[in-house]
Amino acid sequence: MVDTSDEWITSRTGIKERHIADKGVSCSDMAVEAIGRALDMAGCSREEIELLVVGTVTPDYRLPSTACVIQEKMGLPNAVGYDIASACTGFINGLSIVAPQIESGRYKKAVVVGAELLSSFTNYQDRNTCVLFGDAAGAAVVSGEEGESGIISTFMKSDGRMRELLWAEVGGAVNPYSPDFTYNGRDKIMMNGSDVFKVAVREMARAAQAVLEDAGVDPSQLAMVVPHQANIRIIDALAKRLSVDPERVYINIDKYGNTSAASIPLALDEANRAGMLKSGDYVLMVAFGGGLIWGSALVRW
Ligand code: UT7
Repeated sequence: MVDTSDEWITSRTGIKERHIADKGVSCSDMAVEAIGRALDMAGCSREEIELLVVGTVTPDYRLPSTACVIQEKMGLPNAVGYDIASACTGFINGLSIVAPQIESGRYKKAVVVGAELLSSFTNYQDRNTCVLFGDAAGAAVVSGEEGESGIISTFMKSDGRMRELLWAEVGGAVNPYSPDFTYNGRDKIMMNGSDVFKVAVREMARAAQAVLEDAGVDPSQLAMVVPHQANIRIIDALAKRLSVDPERVYINIDKYGNTSAASIPLALDEANRAGMLKSGDYVLMVAFGGGLIWGSALVRW
């Protein structure tokens, strides 16, 4: 499709494989699948879910929210659902929104899902971006329980001055689709990769440090770091800045590429199902994405 090579993609990004959803599969379809598995694992019924937060940049429609589509498809009769537009930070932002609502007792059980049909939003003629992205969804049930486990601290920050480093110019209300307009891929993800890279390394490290300091946890106490999977070099630089042993950093970018809001729950689920997380472990999640927006969550497993 474009002038690239396996060698370039592997060495510059760490990506070996990506997954593209079958034609006809929507963002909500993937989310339904992921949420269903999360509910099964948590032993939680659909009726128990009171809050559904969806992180996505590839909503099924502009109106209504994908959360409402998911609610209808799954049957979550007692939930309020809404989307948040935090790009690759969508899952972390979802946790940061849900955690205080659970803590306060306002809701007893919530679902946070990151779901992205990025193949619908990728310009396959742009080699700067098209080799990076894949489709995926991942979900977590968040509930209020007594005990030591839980979301200990979250941190979120954005800087809209850098919004044009990673954006889609056409398709919103400022530049709506029009038959008179030549898009040239401007309705798909456009990214200044090297500028985003530098900010990502700096701010992911700061976001990680913010929750660790808030919780009084030393990086050496972390059992696992689950970073957003955008680039293996960003992840390696983050591990170095945090002085975390690379073996404690979960990496699956080779198998899925960058799946935006889905990347952290996908990695967390893999690590969990592989038996890598034990009760009491400190798990640090940290993400960065278009906005620019970044954030972190420290969890006691
Ligand atoms: O998930 C949300 C946040 N996103 C990120 O965190 C992404 C951050 N950025 C990155 O991961 C990296 O910047 C990229 C993987 C996107 C690009 O890697 P890079 O090392 O920063 O490359 P570059 O953009 O500086 O480009 C270096 C060269 C350029 O050629 P010239 O100008 O030096 O001749 C590009 O045209 O690599 C070229 N290039 C490619 N060559 C082969 C860019 N994409 C490709 C490609 N295949 N796919």
